[in-house]
Amino acid sequence: MKGIILAGGAGTRLYPASSPISKILLPVYDKPMIYYPLSVLMQAGIREILIITNPEDDANFRKLLGDGSRWGISVSYKIQHEKRGIADAFLLGEEFIGSDACALILGDNLFYGNGFESLLKRACENKKGATVFAYEVGDPHRFGVVEFDAQGRAVSLEEKPAAPKSRFAVTGLYFYDNNVVKYAKELTPSARGELEITDLNKRYLQENNLHVLTLERGFAWLDTGTHESVLEAANFVHSMQVNQGVEIACLEEIALTKGFITEQELKAQLATLPDNVYYNFVRSLVSQK
Ligand code: G1P
Repeated sequence: MKGIILAGGAGTRLYPASSPISKILLPVYDKPMIYYPLSVLMQAGIREILIITNPEDDANFRKLLGDGSRWGISVSYKIQHEKRGIADAFLLGEEFIGSDACALILGDNLFYGNGFESLLKRACENKKGATVFAYEVGDPHRFGVVEFDAQGRAVSLEEKPAAPKSRFAVTGLYFYDNNVVKYAKELTPSARGELEITDLNKRYLQENNLHVLTLERGFAWLDTGTHESVLEAANFVHSMQVNQGVEIACLEEIALTKGFITEQELKAQLATLPDNVYYNFVRSLVSQK
C-alpha cells in the first residue's frame, strides 16, 4: 500500500499567513500541519509516501521531511502545477502508485481518537474497492456528504450540497484499490473545473465497491481550512497533550512503535536534536524502554 499527501492548493483563505509558505507547513500548536496527516499514513503502516506540492513550496517540504529515512519511511515529491482538483493526485501519482493500492490524505486533515488504528487496519485490509470515513458534523454543506439507507449502507454521495441528505461528512482520508488510476483518468472536470474526489468515490459506489467506516462521536476530525479551525485544532492538540502528557502526531514515536526504526537509531538521532518539549518527549520514550 502506497500513500499520497495532497499538500498543494493556494490556501488563500489563510492569507496573509499562508502567503509566503504553504498552509500545510504552518504550525498546528507545536508542529507543522503536515505532521498530522503524515502520522495517519504511518499509523496505517504505510512507508512509501508521495507528497504533492505547489512549485514554490517543494523546497520547504523537502527541507522539513527530507527523504523520510529518519522515520524509516520513503518520502518522494511531485509538483502540481495547476489547481486541478483532489482526484488529480492519482494522475500525478500514477507512476508512484504502479500496481499497488493507494491511500490519499488531504494535508489539512487532522484525525485523533481511540480505536483509530484498528479502523485504519480495516481500511488497509479491504483489498477490493474504496474505503472512506464518515463523520457526523453540524455543517455538512461544507463537505462531501454521504447518505445511508436504513441498513446503514451508503446510497448517495454529494459534494458540498445546498440541501444535505445527511449530517455525515466524508473526511479527507481515502483508501483505494489499484483501479483508482483508471477511474481518475475517466473523470471529467466539474462545473468549477476540478476533478472531484466525490466523483471518484461515486464511481466506486456505482460499482458497489465503496466501504464507509464511521468515526464515532468521541473521535476528533478537524479540517484546518480557516483561521478558526486552525486555532481550534491547535487548542485541541494543546489540551490533549498537556492533559495526557503525550505528543499527538509524534512521528518518532510511531516510527519506533511500528518498528520502522530501532531504538538505537533513534538514540543516535536524538544526540543532535534540540532540548525542547517535543524532543524531550521522544527522549522519554527511548529511556523508558
Ligand atoms: C474536500 C472534499 C470534500 C471533503 C473535504 C474533507 O473539500 O472535496 O468532499 O469532505 O475535503 O476535508 P475541501 O476542504 O477541499 O473544500
